[in-house]
Amino acid sequence: MPLLLFLIANVCAPCHPAIVKQYQSTGMARSSGKLAGTTMPATVHDPSSGATYRIGKDHRMEFERGPVQGNRMLEWFIGSGNVGKSFLFGMDGHLFQAPVSYYSAAGKWDVSPGFEGKRTIQLTRAVEPGCLQCHASAAQPEGGVSCERCHGPGQKHVVSGKAADIVQPAKLPAAHRDGVCAQCHLTGVARVATSNRKAGTFRAGDLLSDYLAVFVWDTPEAGELSATSHYEKLAASKCKQASGDKLWCGSCHDSHREPAAAEKAGFYRERCQSCHSQKPCSKAAANSDCASCHMPKGATRSVDHVAFTDHSIPRKPLPAAAPAAKRALRPFLPAPAGARETALGYAVAAMTEPGVRRQAYELLLKAPRDVAVMAQLAQFHDRMGQEEQAMALCEQIVAIEPDHPAAAVNLGIYRIKRGRTAEAIALWEAALKRSPAMTGARMNLAVALMRTGNREKATAALRQALRFEPDFEPALRLLRELGATP
Ligand code: HEC
Ligand code: HEC
Ligand code: HEC
Ligand code: HEC
Ligand code: HEC
Ligand code: HEC
Ligand code: HEC
Repeated sequence: MPLLLFLIANVCAPCHPAIVKQYQSTGMARSSGKLAGTTMPATVHDPSSGATYRIGKDHRMEFERGPVQGNRMLEWFIGSGNVGKSFLFGMDGHLFQAPVSYYSAAGKWDVSPGFEGKRTIQLTRAVEPGCLQCHASAAQPEGGVSCERCHGPGQKHVVSGKAADIVQPAKLPAAHRDGVCAQCHLTGVARVATSNRKAGTFRAGDLLSDYLAVFVWDTPEAGELSATSHYEKLAASKCKQASGDKLWCGSCHDSHREPAAAEKAGFYRERCQSCHSQKPCSKAAANSDCASCHMPKGATRSVDHVAFTDHSIPRKPLPAAAPAAKRALRPFLPAPAGARETALGYAVAAMTEPGVRRQAYELLLKAPRDVAVMAQLAQFHDRMGQEEQAMALCEQIVAIEPDHPAAAVNLGIYRIKRGRTAEAIALWEAALKRSPAMTGARMNLAVALMRTGNREKATAALRQALRFEPDFEPALRLLRELGATP
């Protein structure tokens, strides 16, 4: 594994040296950074694409599939390695996730989560801002989760040393307090940025529901766990339901410190007994490992490939239940969700739950229209074969946001079908400038350029597509037809 160098100068260190030092060993503090030192060489064979990836000592990732080969330098990591690590490389001013990751439990590299089953070499997955919002503190994947993510801006306090000038999460009202951890630890079925959100981004101390609507199913499947389901699970526990605002993540976790393996059982037992001392467990000794029976590790629902701790604190382990035949979304945060947010939540849910497609469509029709709503609606119309409606929406979006990737790409398709090739080319070029890795759109662009007789630009577009998807057969074939090499 890469050697980690933790050299970030911390402005809090002069006055809080013990906390700063302890915090540095947590997973959160080490959750992203620049690769340094050397790594153990490794080889991964991806059975679905047939590609082979080789990781060199110097973090060079080579890929090979038949005659197609190349390499990228891995520059950054995401994930402390407690569970695993993903790796990033840069291209054209964007950061992309490597198709292979390191898995700690298995002690080996394998195909990255979400890349399983792909037919080609995918160098197309841009990571920003998504991953960095939770694994870093700024636009660069460096330094992990900083003090300020939980304590808010520190400039004033650093000078004054006054308690009033800094956020102490445990002292906040419950909804504000819970938002500090939920900004990263709560994903639900859909996370939708609210339209009426205050200027700027969420900071510790704010009310998270002013920025974000998070939706969950009203009848969750028992046993479902994922990397960011701790909130939903805890909310379903008897402990939380019976003790209300008193119980939160901070009741059991010390944000600055992870207990060592040997002290874990005692560390969490003490937390349980702060509430359960009156009536000891009828099935266990007072000094037993409470969490081993009541918070078992379970498999995750998603491709997260690891076991997570069941935060629903069951009396006895529950068998996994099948999902309810008909389920609805409900907002999770303690604030009502608007019609726009609800419609967008359903639109996200519909991608994996066909049963709610109709409802998503109807809610979108009624929702106040902005770019996000129109973009979803356009896709629904497109899939339903209602091209005129889809096209009208794409036109409205592009009038507001000329390089909106989905709208510009689709509008380009409607344009070229109607023989308006020059317009299609302009739309695709704008979209690709913003999102360079859309290889399908790049392919369309190349075909359109060929039709206008611009072989040179067509060849360049195909070569661009192959930088992001090197074994993309349609692009390779067209290049051969043009008598050019990749
Ligand atoms: C110049 C010294 C100094 C620096 C630098 C400093 N602090 Fe403090 N901090 C203090 C002192 C003194 C207190 C105790 C204040 C009190 O109890 O009135 C404190 C208290 C706190 C508290 C508890 C507040 C409360 O309501 O109980 C937090 C949280 C905190 N600091 C976080 C930070 C963070 C985060 C940083 C870096 C961004 C930082 N501090 C930098 C001196 C400092
Ligand atoms: C800025 C995003 C962010 C915030 C805010 C945040 N976490 Fe985390 N947390 C993470 C990430 C990312 C990981 C996984 C770190 C890794 O291993 O790479 C994590 C891991 C953890 C872990 C596992 C142990 C560890 O340190 O890796 C615990 C426990 C945890 N967080 C508790 C909390 C609590 C409690 C709060 C609120 C007081 C909180 N977190 C706030 C992002 C965040
Ligand atoms: C909404 C916040 C959020 C987003 C977005 C997010 N993660 Fe995470 N991720 C987490 C949290 C929280 C954990 C810790 C889970 C745990 O330990 O239960 C985690 C864990 C991980 C881990 C395992 C770290 C370890 O403990 O060793 C990796 C690797 C990882 N994420 C990669 C990514 C990548 C790559 C992306 C972008 C494609 C991403 N994550 C997006 C919150 C997030
Ligand atoms: C994941 C969220 C999180 C991060 C990151 C974090 N803290 Fe805290 N911090 C908390 C919480 C929660 C409390 C309140 C603990 C309590 O009172 O139960 C706290 C309390 C404090 C306090 C006052 C109480 C005490 O223990 O002395 C200081 C000082 C502090 N943090 C400094 C820091 C510094 C410095 C950093 C960065 C090295 C940091 N924190 C990073 C969540 C966080
Ligand atoms: C903030 C207080 C609090 C903490 C901390 C807490 N619990 Fe609870 N828990 C409760 C309350 C209140 C109930 C409901 C009344 C009861 O059964 O005592 C409960 C109920 C339970 C139940 C019964 C669940 C059922 O379905 O009947 C179990 C088991 C349990 N807790 C285990 C734990 C364990 C293990 C821990 C530590 C990992 C823990 N609790 C931490 C307050 C808490
Ligand atoms: C009743 C106690 C309790 C509460 C409350 C609690 N946790 Fe945990 N948590 C645990 C225990 C026990 C573990 C397992 C620790 C281990 O094995 O290292 C754990 C593990 C984790 C992990 C590591 C990954 C995993 O699933 O094993 C994360 C992340 C985490 N908790 C986040 C949270 C968040 C976020 C909250 C608030 C929504 C929260 N926890 C509330 C007891 C608690
Ligand atoms: C060996 C597994 C095991 C361990 C360890 C364990 N429990 Fe339990 N606990 C159980 C079982 C099983 C039940 C359900 C008993 C029943 O339904 O008859 C239970 C029930 C409970 C209940 C519900 C009230 C009751 O007694 O029926 C609470 C609260 C509880 N446990 C808390 C704890 C705490 C706190 C610890 C740590 C000091 C702990 N348990 C350790 C297995 C365990």
